[in-house]
Amino acid sequence: MEYSPLCPAAHATPLPPVRNKLLVLCVMLSLWAYTLYCCIGYCSTAPGLPGLSADSRETPSPRALSTELPNGDSGGFGEPDGGSSNRVEEWDEGRTLNDSETKKLPQAIIIGVKKGGTRALLEFLRLHPDIRAVGAEPHFFDRNYEKGLEWYRDLMPKSLEGQITMEKTPSYFVTKEVPGRIYAMSKDTKLIVVVRDPVTRAISDYTQTRSKKPDIPSFESLTFKNSTAGLIDATWSALQIGMYARHLERWLRFFPINQILFVSGERLITDPAGEMARVQDFLGLRRVVTDKYFHFNPAKGFPCLKKPESNSKPHCLGKTKGRTHPNIHPDVIQQLRDFYKPFNKKFYHMTRQDFGWD
Ligand SMILES: *[C@@H]1O[C@H](CO)[C@@H](O)[C@H](O)[C@H]1NC(C)=O
Ligand SMILES: *[C@@H]1O[C@H](CO)[C@@H](O)[C@H](O)[C@H]1NC(C)=O
Repeated sequence: MEYSPLCPAAHATPLPPVRNKLLVLCVMLSLWAYTLYCCIGYCSTAPGLPGLSADSRETPSPRALSTELPNGDSGGFGEPDGGSSNRVEEWDEGRTLNDSETKKLPQAIIIGVKKGGTRALLEFLRLHPDIRAVGAEPHFFDRNYEKGLEWYRDLMPKSLEGQITMEKTPSYFVTKEVPGRIYAMSKDTKLIVVVRDPVTRAISDYTQTRSKKPDIPSFESLTFKNSTAGLIDATWSALQIGMYARHLERWLRFFPINQILFVSGERLITDPAGEMARVQDFLGLRRVVTDKYFHFNPAKGFPCLKKPESNSKPHCLGKTKGRTHPNIHPDVIQQLRDFYKPFNKKFYHMTRQDFGWD
């Protein structure tokens, strides 16, 4: 109660007439001081004064503005830099003073792509002591957004100060609403996309669907609107997901390109340690997950994980990951290669990385 020393008489009872006048003077002085305080702009952070109505404290805080979306047509690369605080941190403040073991909103998200190698990346990242990740895909920003951030946070594992909370939901990358929603949670969220040759990705996607619904039409018949005319159906989701440049444009309206890391799904398999070095650097982590952790399984064509200095059996990636792909006519493959060529070229240009798919 910072104002009470000004008014020593305020606590005295009963009040003789002189003291009564002194009290009124004190109250007026306090009100005047508070009004001045408000004018300077500290009102919203001032401790509440008893008897003052709430409407004098309605000055919007600058933080509220920081969650507004930027202009859609700003071109994407430039970010409105108000120096506003990270919303994630803001949420965590005051939740508990002992922040060992609290649930935090993710600071980094693997946003895509389906069949790109996101599961492998998440499993590799989980070897790192400074990563805490949800195993299941939360689908918060695309399917469960109305449940709110508290629901989302509750899905997260507990983490210590300094650990990074992560999740992966591959459909985020191709869902229109997601970039703006992640931005609204925190504009500082680090984003990771695992990409893979869009043609092999499409086949892998189709193969997975067919393993669940064996009677779907052939890959070829879904690929073409009119196969005589060679007209490719770009609305078929298996093909649409691979038009990476198109999806990326939407993200760049909200996030600068250097806030998104593009991981090669191919190199994640052929050189997991090399690709993991990039990922750990991007996340600002020590390089803990190194070649000591990987053991290549030639039979499966996938790397297996092992804990260094441990005799336990290496953990290999899931059984379902090695499904045999259907035989697709080379002409169809070639037509798809031609179809993707301009999108790939644009994607290499945007990311300044050549993924070597063509
Ligand atoms: C926080 O809690 C943990 C266990 O609950 C305890 O070991 C640790 O000392 C506490 N830290 C602080 C800063 O109080
Ligand atoms: C498919 O394309 C061919 C050649 O352009 C055309 O003659 C035919 O009418 C088309 N078929 C359909 C169903 O649109």
